[in-house]
Amino acid sequence: MDESNRSGQWQSSFGFIIACVGSAVGLGNLWKFPYITYENGGGAFVLVYLIAISMVGLPILVAEIMIGRHGRHNVFASYKILSGNKWFWKFVGIFSILTSIAVLSFYLVVAGWSLSYFFNSISGNLLSQTKETVDPYFGEFVGSGVKQILYHTLFTLLTVWIVIRGTSGIERAVKFLMPLLFLFVLIIMIISISNFGGKSAFDFLFSFDLSKITAHGALQAVGHAFFTLSIGMGIMIIYGSYLPNGKSIIRASLWAVFFDTLIAIMACFMMYPIIFGNNLNLSASTSMLFTTLTVQFNSLPGGQYISAIFYLLVAFAALSSTISMIEPLVSYVAEEYNVKRKKATFTGAFIVWGLGLFSALSLGANPVLTHFKFFDKIDFLASNWGLTLGGLFVATFAGYVLPKKVRLEELGLKDNSLFYKFWLFCVRFFAPLMIIFIMLSELGIL
Ligand code: PHE
Repeated sequence: MDESNRSGQWQSSFGFIIACVGSAVGLGNLWKFPYITYENGGGAFVLVYLIAISMVGLPILVAEIMIGRHGRHNVFASYKILSGNKWFWKFVGIFSILTSIAVLSFYLVVAGWSLSYFFNSISGNLLSQTKETVDPYFGEFVGSGVKQILYHTLFTLLTVWIVIRGTSGIERAVKFLMPLLFLFVLIIMIISISNFGGKSAFDFLFSFDLSKITAHGALQAVGHAFFTLSIGMGIMIIYGSYLPNGKSIIRASLWAVFFDTLIAIMACFMMYPIIFGNNLNLSASTSMLFTTLTVQFNSLPGGQYISAIFYLLVAFAALSSTISMIEPLVSYVAEEYNVKRKKATFTGAFIVWGLGLFSALSLGANPVLTHFKFFDKIDFLASNWGLTLGGLFVATFAGYVLPKKVRLEELGLKDNSLFYKFWLFCVRFFAPLMIIFIMLSELGIL
């Protein structure tokens, strides 16, 4: 293995923290969290989600970074080295990389939609859309093979352009993208609240009515904790491997969880006032971000520009996630096959892009893929099975396989520290049990 193909180290703690935040904040926060929270009745779900984030998400995030920094290699090699060359853990490494390829392949397609909606906002095309036409417009757009491939390719190239530069490229990009994203979300949130009022959104989110908690909702909350923190497919292992010793893993993880949650809540305040203020019914699909909101933007003064900013923001958020999602594959190719970072990036991107074509063409363009619902299937398999299984492996590895000395050293804690006890309890018992519970319920056994 040639160390010179490793992509460097984070320049600062801030750079690392912001890269983690950039990976975490994405379509999961802007689209998925507001929608599943809405579907699950608000407050009670938020409460369960917060518990899931702190007792499953945060501990696994810490565990992933720890494995990465101690392994100091790509996902596969880190598992291999730290486990003493055990075949099972080598399989886990490969499994994580395969999951990242699958998630990225369809994520790039949706990310491409945001680019298209950005361009169409600017050109004024979206301005002519009404309640009646947004759905057919969206349907026609996703059903066009040419357009899907065009935007999917464009987004892949955008990702490559940044990733080719290694950690410094990623660090520079997210340092710029994240604060901008935060600012945009804040501005749109203020516009929404000042136009439609924020009280109903606030009551909806923060009235913790415990009787509304359902088992299904609890499961969704745990599943979303994985997706939104980008854990379970080795991203944080590889990001952690670029983290210099001595920088605090716990601090970085806490910041990532805090910002991820903050942006998700802000996204609710950005959309709910519009929705509650107009008695809109949210449609239960990915298209909501692109259809319902378009109608609302068009009804606002200067809506064309708000819409353009909004979709640009979605593209930014998606970009800082896609550059992280490709990293497990790129670092694997570069280190294991001894190729230069540039070539590894192109190879990795080509594989992901190729697989993504199946998703891109399965929304109407190709009858066979459409009939087979390729997009939905790969999303379901990768997000629900891939990530949760990956998370289970991470928790088990950090909780049982890594020696105690390594755990304490990486965390910079003593074994009687409260945080260490809490973390160990979560990775050993709480998180695995929750994950197994999710799986059994998904299999219909519970
Ligand atoms: N966390 C990102 C989001 O919320 C998506 C993501 C999922 C990134 C899984 C990496 C791994 O959109």
